[in-house]
Formats: sequence, C-alpha cells, structure tokens
Amino acid sequence: MKILNDLSFTIKEGSITGLIGPNGAGKSSFFNALFALFPSTGSIKLEDIELVGKTPNQVNHLGVCRTFQDSKLLPQMTVLENLMLSSKYSETVTLRRVFFDSKNLSEEQKNEQAQGIKLLRKVGLEKKAHILAGDLSYGQSKLIEILKLFMCDSKLILLDEPFSGLFPEMIKVITRLIYELVESGRTIIFVEHNMKLISEICDHVIVLDAGTKIAEGTFDHVRKIPAVIEAYLGD
Ligand SMILES: Nc1ncnc2c1ncn2[C@@H]1O[C@H](COP(=O)(O)OP(=O)(O)OP(=O)(O)O)[C@@H](O)[C@H]1O
Ligand SMILES: [Mg+2]
Repeated sequence: MKILNDLSFTIKEGSITGLIGPNGAGKSSFFNALFALFPSTGSIKLEDIELVGKTPNQVNHLGVCRTFQDSKLLPQMTVLENLMLSSKYSETVTLRRVFFDSKNLSEEQKNEQAQGIKLLRKVGLEKKAHILAGDLSYGQSKLIEILKLFMCDSKLILLDEPFSGLFPEMIKVITRLIYELVESGRTIIFVEHNMKLISEICDHVIVLDAGTKIAEGTFDHVRKIPAVIEAYLGD
C-alpha cells in the first residue's frame, strides 16, 4: 500500500515549516517516512545525507528529533528521567563505562540532570522533576515532550500536533519554546490543524492531500488556492 505519492519539497534551514492537510492526508506518514519508521522509496536528504534506507536510530544520530501525535513519555519513569533519556548521556552509559569510567560518567549524569532541572524551572515545573511522568496532566506531558527536544543535539525537529487539546496559556508557552529551538539553530517542520497558529508561527506552509503536495508557499498564498479550500471543505 502506497500512502505518499509523488511528494517533493525542500525545507529551508532555520525555518519553521507548517505541514497541513485534512485528516488522513499523510502528514504523520511523512514524518514516519523521514524517521525511517515507514519503508520508503525515493530520496529524503538531510543536507547531503540520504535518509532513506537508514534506521530510526541512525536518522536520530544524524540530527533529527521528533514528537508524536500521542505522548511517548514513559509513565513509570520520573519526569527528570524522561528528560534524561533524550540526552547524549543516556546513550553513552555502557557497562564498560560503569566499571572503568564511573567518575566521568557520574559527572556527565550530574550535568544532564542540572540541564533537565533548569529546563523544568524555565516552565515552572521544577517541583514535578521527581514525580512519575504518568501522573502529569495532559498539557504538562505535551510540554515535557517539547522540553525533551532541548536535551538532544538536533538539526531538524518534527512536531506532530504539539498544540492539540491545549489551553491558550500552554499554547503560548510552547510557542515560545518553539521559537527558542529555532533561535538555537534548529529547523522545524510542524503539523497542526489550527490555521491561526499556522499563520502566526510558520514562515512557509506545505499542503498535503491524499498523500501528495497540492500547494506550497506562505499561509496567505496557500489559503486562497482553490485545491486547498476544496481539500478542507469538499467541493
Ligand atoms: N501503519 C499504517 N498502515 C496502513 N495505513 C496507514 C498506516 N498509517 C497511516 N495509514 C493510512 O495512511 C493515510 C495517511 O495517514 P496519516 O496518519 O499520515 O494522516 P495525517 O495527515 O497525519 O492525519 P491526521 O490529521 O488525522 O493525523 C491514512 O489513510 C491512514 O489510514
Ligand atoms: Mg497525523
């Protein structure tokens, strides 16, 4: 079964690109293809490096991070532990290092923990550091998913509906964090159904329908295109 078809576009470094389209258009599937979770043909390049054929782990190591439509926090681990899982530290813990490099390892762990606490403090959640992630509210979980992105080095971030179901106050906090991610040199592609947010946040918009691109440009440009109006509203 082919979900994406004849899909081609370029993302500008340092930009925020909105990926929009009706339910089932293929937005999450594109993220899955980019992240090597769906088998793909064709070519998806990050700078000059081909991603098709890589594993999700390799794609991540090349500098791609993502969030999912549903929360992927581990509910039986604490909030701080969940943040730490995104850090380089968690990848470098090996049995060998535990035995032979424990001093450096515990130093790295302390640094990453301090970074996690600093991030939680930034959004007023430092008191939640040691509670189980499963005890967070829905909005807080969405916020932690965004904070995790600050813990890893990345070039490209894929956000799948980061604002869905959130109150306006939380939307403001997450918007500010997205701008911070861009200011720190990351490029963002994000999927969102709220057109007001898309128009406010995105430099560029790509519209998908039935697995293919039907329009591309600024929000003001694409919103007037008949094929886009038809895809959303029917004819
Ligand atoms: N694992 C899968 N196996 C088979 N079909 C799938 C799979 N995942 C998605 N699809 C199909 O691919 C199409 C695109 O789905 P996708 O989840 O990418 O849409 P979307 O644009 O993210 O929609 P939404 O806005 O509802 O999240 C749909 O027809 C869906 O049923
Ligand atoms: Mg989706």
